[in-house]
Amino acid sequence: MITSAQLRQKYFDFFKSKGHALIPSASLIPENDPTVLFTTAGMHPLVPYLLGEAHPLGKRLCDVQKCIRTGDIDDVGDAWHLSFFEMLGNWSLGDYFKKEMVAFSYEFLTGKKYLGIPSERLSVTCFAGDADAPRDIEAAGAWEKAGVPKNRIHFLAKADNWWGPAGQTGPCGPDTEMFYHVKDIQEKSTQEFEKYNKEGTFCEIWNDVLMQYNKNEKGVYEEGKQKNIDTGMGVERTVAVLNGLDNVYETDTLKPIFEKVLDLAGKKSGKVSAEELRSARIITDHLRAAVMILGDNKGIVPSNVDQGYILRRFIRRAIRHARLIGINGNFCKEVAQVTVKVMGPVFEEVEKNKARVFSELEKEEEKFSVALENGTKVLEKKLSFLDKAPKKELNAKGAFDLFQSYGFPLEMTIEMCKEKGFSVDSKRFEELLKQHQELSRKGAEQKFKGGLLDNSVETTKLHTATHLLNEALRQIVRKDTYQKGCNITAERLRFDFNADEKLTEEQLKKVEAWVNDAIKSEAEVKMDIMGVEEAKKVGAQGVFDSKYGEKVKVYTISKGSKIFSKEICGGPHVKNTKELGKFKIQKQESVAAGIRRIKAVLE
Ligand code: ALA
Repeated sequence: MITSAQLRQKYFDFFKSKGHALIPSASLIPENDPTVLFTTAGMHPLVPYLLGEAHPLGKRLCDVQKCIRTGDIDDVGDAWHLSFFEMLGNWSLGDYFKKEMVAFSYEFLTGKKYLGIPSERLSVTCFAGDADAPRDIEAAGAWEKAGVPKNRIHFLAKADNWWGPAGQTGPCGPDTEMFYHVKDIQEKSTQEFEKYNKEGTFCEIWNDVLMQYNKNEKGVYEEGKQKNIDTGMGVERTVAVLNGLDNVYETDTLKPIFEKVLDLAGKKSGKVSAEELRSARIITDHLRAAVMILGDNKGIVPSNVDQGYILRRFIRRAIRHARLIGINGNFCKEVAQVTVKVMGPVFEEVEKNKARVFSELEKEEEKFSVALENGTKVLEKKLSFLDKAPKKELNAKGAFDLFQSYGFPLEMTIEMCKEKGFSVDSKRFEELLKQHQELSRKGAEQKFKGGLLDNSVETTKLHTATHLLNEALRQIVRKDTYQKGCNITAERLRFDFNADEKLTEEQLKKVEAWVNDAIKSEAEVKMDIMGVEEAKKVGAQGVFDSKYGEKVKVYTISKGSKIFSKEICGGPHVKNTKELGKFKIQKQESVAAGIRRIKAVLE
């Protein structure tokens, strides 16, 4: 039996022996990056260093990072997918590259001192090549040299074997992924490999991203100035396969939680139906994710926006699945107590924040339990009326009522409808939700009338001004300006961006004037929710992480057909730039090599 603690230790020992410095896990909530709700990979907090900024600990790093991926949420309940998981990673920041990394991976996976996986239980994939970049025969060659025979090296297209860029432009490249054969069988072809992978007989455990290219403004992949390595190994999956298990829920960081859930339901492991098993896994996964979010130092609590909404969805969906397997009454705290016991020793903030974890869970459960029961009855009634309708669809108003009166997250209503063969008009739902939010905002504005402005109004204004500043810099200083950091208080905004030299007085004046022109034109600020691919297509600025199908918010500032800014962002923003007043740059400073800072205010 190898434990998660042993795997982490082996990983760190190995990479330390190869000259890597161990860095701590960053928060689950991205720092200075309002474009994604959660940290989805170890590379996220490291983007500035992958772009060339010097890391204080050098060019070789490793860590274990807390990650949340909601893009896979519909797969949760199967053997391998998790919402929260731990990712082991190592980085070369312009230091060693592909050949060394493949050799490291093979040594760590198969070496007796490390994981000792028999070579014949491994298959790997490499990038097949397309118009942007050639077939990665170099990586394949390195695998062959290390000891993986040709018939277990597969070439796949960009959709499978490419990572990045993290933004619209920037470092990216092919990746090479490693798969463990859960059953002792070998594929005869790439087609068969894909089949085994899809059904979970082969399980991806590690991904080495070979950041060899830089995607430029024209969308062309040119050789990057700095070649980076970015890797990610899933702790739960790797521990599972090393112990001969065929799913992650029997590993040491999940099994106690999973068994507690079964116990509360009065069920025995191995004696549950497929449906019950799926529900028990969903409860385990979702409550663990909820504990990790609540236990993070950022202090996120359940709400109807951003991270708070995802947290709420995890908790409420867990409660619903609990009812499906016969857990009635409050139970979240009991599951959370087990979770803190397991995760606290790994991420000490979870132990430190446990009082908040428990009380927030209890509050949310209290709020939702009765509503769930009543709302379910209402929904069932609605669906029984619709049973004979030509289209088996719950209209947006129905879903919205459930959201407003019973706190049903849209995704939960969709799931409940789907189980009964109904769809939901979710597009119209989003429109209703937006209208509703606008109305409540108007209500809030009324309250602030008469000079009773609070901090949040001021910061919201500065937030919108920051988008305009960002675009002004792109228009006036350089096209590839991007945000390196941002900090907003009620009094001022502070914006860090890439720049090789000091901005001239004239440039600063022009930037200021550009922003003030946009303000004076009384441009509208509009928000749309869309998939990452679509956001890319419409030319939004911001950090993209297309692998996970996350939905993003895109804020557009425009007047008629003139678009001043289009940026992926968590919000909030003002409705119209006329609310902003006069924009004034107070000073510029240098923060680090290649990074400048502007401080500005609204008068
Ligand atoms: N960033 C890569 C991943 O998440 C390693 O798979």
